[in-house]
Amino acid sequence: MTTSSTTSSAASADGSGILPAELEDLVTLFDVRATDSPTPDAEREAALQAPKFGTVFTDHMARISWRQGDGWLDRRIEKYGPLQLDPATAVLHYAQEIFEGMKAYRHADGSVWTFRPDANAARFARSAHRLALPALSVDDFIGSIAALVRADIDWVPSGEDFSLYLRPFTFASEAFLGVRPTAEAEYLVIASPVGPYFAGGVKPVSIWIDEHYHRSGPGGTGDAKYGGNYAASLLPQQLAAEKGFDQVCYLDATTNTSLEELGGMNVFVVMADGSVHTPELTGSFLEGVTRSSILQLAADRGHQAVERRLPLAEVVAGLQDGTVREIFACGTAAVITPVGRLAGDEFDLQVSGGEPGELTMAIREELTDIQYGRAADRHGWMRRLA
Ligand code: COI
Repeated sequence: MTTSSTTSSAASADGSGILPAELEDLVTLFDVRATDSPTPDAEREAALQAPKFGTVFTDHMARISWRQGDGWLDRRIEKYGPLQLDPATAVLHYAQEIFEGMKAYRHADGSVWTFRPDANAARFARSAHRLALPALSVDDFIGSIAALVRADIDWVPSGEDFSLYLRPFTFASEAFLGVRPTAEAEYLVIASPVGPYFAGGVKPVSIWIDEHYHRSGPGGTGDAKYGGNYAASLLPQQLAAEKGFDQVCYLDATTNTSLEELGGMNVFVVMADGSVHTPELTGSFLEGVTRSSILQLAADRGHQAVERRLPLAEVVAGLQDGTVREIFACGTAAVITPVGRLAGDEFDLQVSGGEPGELTMAIREELTDIQYGRAADRHGWMRRLA
C-alpha cells in the first residue's frame, strides 16, 4: 500500500520531468505543408459548437516516419486525410501500435496550454518499448504537438469543458506477414475539438463490474497504451451497454477479486473518513496521468491518498454499510466522472445517492481550474503551446 505522502506514481509519471526549454526550435523542425483547402471559418465555427467526442478533426496532422537503421525522418505538418496502406501492413494483422490521449486548453487570454506532456511522452516511450516499436524522443513528442496546435490554433475551442483532444500514435507500417517487430513505423498526431466525454455532461455514470472478462493479465500489455487492450474491452462494454450500463470495471486477472480499471479510465473510491483510494499499479492496467494528479491534489487537501489492492467485496460492503461514500472514474478524455451506480452479477447499489460526490466534484473543479488557467499551477503541470 502506498499513501500519497510518498507519491510513488505521481513522481514516476512525470518521466524526465523536463520540458525542453527551446520549444521554438523543436517546432521549427516540422516542415509545415499547409492544406490548400482549409475548412471555411463558418463551417469550423459550427463544428466547434457541440462536437461529439472524437468525430470532428482539424485541418492538419503532425507526422514523422521511421525506418530501421535511419531513425525518425521527415518531421512535417500535413493535410489531415486518409492514409494509404498496403493490405499487408503489419499493424492490420498483428496490432503493433500504441497511442496517447492529451488535451490543449484555451485560457481566458487566448493562450493555449497542455497538461503534463512530459508524463505522456514518458508513458508513450514505455508503451513503445512493450510493443517493440521505436521510441520517440520527448523533444519530438512535444514538438509535434506544439507544431500541430499552432497550425490548427483556430480549432482550439473555448468554454467550460471544451478542449482540443490530441491523439499521438505510432503504428507498424511495414508491409510483411512475418511475426516480428516492424522495420518501418509512422508516428502521427491528430486533433479533435471536444466537449464533455459523456453525452449527458458531468452526470453520474453507471458501472458494471465484469467478473468474466479481463482486458489484460500479469506480464501482458495492460500498462501500455495499446489499442489491443481497448479492443479486448469492446465485447464486455457492449454486453454491459445491453444491460443499460455506461461503463465496465475489470477485476484483476489473477484472483478475480480486486478492482483494476475501467475500459478507458482509472477508478477511485472515497471512504467516509475522507481517505481516497485507487488500485495500486500492478503492471496490468494503465498508469493514468489524471490518476497520479488526483492522488497529488487529494493529498494537498489533507486527504489520505492511498494506492492499494482494492477488493470488490470491500467496496460492495462499504457501499452497503456507508463506509464507501463516493466512487469516481478519471482519464484525460473523461476528466473526473462521478459514479452513481455500481452493479455486478450479485449486487446493484447506488453510490452517493445517485448524485455526484462532494469530494469528487471538488477535485474535479480544482483540476479543471488548473487546466483552464483559473487556478495557480502550483505543481508546474501546465505547458504553454501557443
Ligand atoms: C483518454 O482518456 O485520453 C483515453 O485514451 C481514453 C479513451 C478515449 C481511449
